[in-house]
Amino acid sequence: MLVSPFRLITITQSLAIFTFVMRDYFVENRRIITMPQSFGSVKSGSDLLLKLHCGFQRDRNFNKFKLSRQGLASKKLLAHTHLFSRVMSVFSNKVNPITGKMEWEMHDDEYDFHQEIARSSYADMLHDTERNEKYQVALESAIKTMHENGKPAHVLDIGTGTGLLAMMAARAGADSVVACEAFEPVGRCAQQIIKQNGFENHIKVVPKRSTALTVGLNCDLPHRANILVTEVFDTELIGEGAFATFSHAHKELLEKDCIVVPSSATVYAQVIESNFVSRWDNLKPLRNGAELVVDTPLDVASCPGAAAVHDIQLSQLSPELFKTILPPEPVFRFDYSGRSPVIRDRSTVQVLKAACDGTAHAVFMWWDLVMDTKGEVILSCAPFWAHPSNAKSPNDIPWRDHWMQAVYYLPKPISTKKDQELTLISSHDEFSLWFNLGVDLKLKDKDYMRPVCSCIAHATLSRTRIGQINDEQRTQKYMEAFKTLINKDSICLSVGDSCLIALAAAKLGAKLVLCVESSPLMRRILENYVQHNNLKSQVKVFDESSLDKEAFMRNISEKVNVILSEPYHMSSILPWENLHFWYQKYEMKNILSESCVTLPCKGILYGMAVEFRDLWKIRAPLKNVQGFEMKSFDELIDTSSNRVDCKWEAQPLWEYPCRALSKPTKLLELCLSSDVPEKNLNSSGSLDILGSSACNGIALWMDWALDPEANYVVSTGPAEDVKIDHQVSWDVHSRQGVYLFVEPIPQVASLSFTTVFNPKSGSMSFDFKADNLKVVQPA
Ligand SMILES: C[S@@+](CC[C@H](N)C(=O)[O-])C[C@H]1O[C@@H](n2cnc3c(N)ncnc32)[C@H](O)[C@@H]1O
Repeated sequence: MLVSPFRLITITQSLAIFTFVMRDYFVENRRIITMPQSFGSVKSGSDLLLKLHCGFQRDRNFNKFKLSRQGLASKKLLAHTHLFSRVMSVFSNKVNPITGKMEWEMHDDEYDFHQEIARSSYADMLHDTERNEKYQVALESAIKTMHENGKPAHVLDIGTGTGLLAMMAARAGADSVVACEAFEPVGRCAQQIIKQNGFENHIKVVPKRSTALTVGLNCDLPHRANILVTEVFDTELIGEGAFATFSHAHKELLEKDCIVVPSSATVYAQVIESNFVSRWDNLKPLRNGAELVVDTPLDVASCPGAAAVHDIQLSQLSPELFKTILPPEPVFRFDYSGRSPVIRDRSTVQVLKAACDGTAHAVFMWWDLVMDTKGEVILSCAPFWAHPSNAKSPNDIPWRDHWMQAVYYLPKPISTKKDQELTLISSHDEFSLWFNLGVDLKLKDKDYMRPVCSCIAHATLSRTRIGQINDEQRTQKYMEAFKTLINKDSICLSVGDSCLIALAAAKLGAKLVLCVESSPLMRRILENYVQHNNLKSQVKVFDESSLDKEAFMRNISEKVNVILSEPYHMSSILPWENLHFWYQKYEMKNILSESCVTLPCKGILYGMAVEFRDLWKIRAPLKNVQGFEMKSFDELIDTSSNRVDCKWEAQPLWEYPCRALSKPTKLLELCLSSDVPEKNLNSSGSLDILGSSACNGIALWMDWALDPEANYVVSTGPAEDVKIDHQVSWDVHSRQGVYLFVEPIPQVASLSFTTVFNPKSGSMSFDFKADNLKVVQPA
């Protein structure tokens, strides 16, 4: 059988995706353990793929491919323990998200390692002074207690990372310290840092997972330890495998009367009503003002959604945007002290009174750690309104990005009356949490089950994308632009992923709408929408990668006269990567009429100089942490960043406050009505710094002009007018680009910029330099 090149690419891509997921599946415990409970039967590869997505899609990781800290460590353990010492080049074959072409890239085989180091949360975690100080206080107290009881202090540090907690123990007078680290290259770095700080004779570093440690003569530990210090928690608390780590340690590595830092953890849940928050969960109908244009199919509207955690910086969510149905309530306690067994999975049922009339949509979750045995040192991850420090604003609590808060969406909205009794069921397994709420729940088995997406949409779309599709103002702009453009003779070609807005073009009267979608799951969703909205005669859905232009042409008797895109592509991470549709248009030139209109017709790249309040910490060198030199770690991050990373990355800036120091400035304008250019597009100019603070970054975004007069512009940048020296309010449904300066630039009058768009690779590159300094009058 002959396989067309297009088909071959699809098969290869699917296999690549499948292999990627399967590798995850086998490497990360998280995926192995949770499967039986939530997955049911898996009949085929695509079912498995779908179910894996259902259960484990995490918004941040889904688009950014940013790995969880532990995922990162465990994967690398397999991938690098035997590879890292060799240096050889490897080719990788991947689809360029912008041009859509398969490309070979050559990297040395340390590339993955450097990429993960460069993007890991290690640096941000080590900038978390409150965390560091509280670990130090609790460790010092544990060592003192052992000594006061006439015992030596034998400390085991599980997951030492840079060696920080082990060095704290050694400095506090521990009699012996063994530090283990599963991620071997980081373990090697720990050894250097420990040496640099003069503790090489006090601390033994073992490059192993704790569950592989041996105890006894000539073993990793000469005897069991009587103090355990460890920090193996993620935003969900348990997602980094804390259960296995603690239970194994108590069984095999620790004495019975040991002290554990931290000694326990408590998980809190707050049930809320919020139309704003629920926009990240369920796809709502598309409307033109009050008129319903594209309705949501019933199975999508009634789907319980995906249980996957939605991790966000909750403190940045204004309290005006939600109403509390059940105030924060402790739902689980995890005892790490060894006095009682660490629990692997359970559900708790609490009957609580509703605080008000309303509709419960979601649960906010966070946790705190009790660091010491007396319960005096508490490390809380609560948002500011629930923080034990009685904070009045997000600025009053410590900032951290390695632990955020999480949102879990309820399987269905629940109407409540003030003082009515509600049953909150909180469940966890070894690696994740989920919640259910009901009025008069009879507590059947299904009430305890983890919700599984049955409509595919929650499994396929990121939370950000669901929010974007639900953004009424954005939809309205497309509706207005369509009304000026679409008529009964319109043959539209829609290019992009999850482009539901194309169905609105059909509803507004287009003769034919041809939708080209790259994802098989998205095609199934779109076909469901087509059927539900009675658009079968007007809308045809095609597979982008197997697009056979001859067959495509047979579906239409006339050439395409409108090519439309939001633009949105699932594989795009940075705002300008959505330019893929421009390349698609070029590829399909033969089927476009001479007068074909392109929507959007222009893409404008903007930049703005800002001062980030906290985000700079993800890139800033550590220099010194709690009195320990961290030069080796800074060098490791620096080397990795230089080898693999570019200086810009995507971030949802509404979660990371910044002040505007310049006006939004046009960096490059792309005429999408024309063909993709042959040669590089360059532009240069300057950003005038009008604000008074030191500039530590540039925010980057795209505006898409839907019509030539720019009456309808969809912006992925500021949501309101920018005022110099004021906090910027960002579009919540997009990720912006961020260029961070390693050192802030004080007193700069302007920054010069150069922007280059390379049409061959589809890449955008930037350079920003301090131009001239402000003249400061002597005092
Ligand atoms: C969050 S970091 C903490 C690093 C360091 N202890 C600190 O507090 O700065 C967790 C580290 O623990 C490692 N890790 C997690 N579970 C482990 C285990 N069971 N055994 C050894 N290392 C582990 C990870 O590779 C990661 O480097």
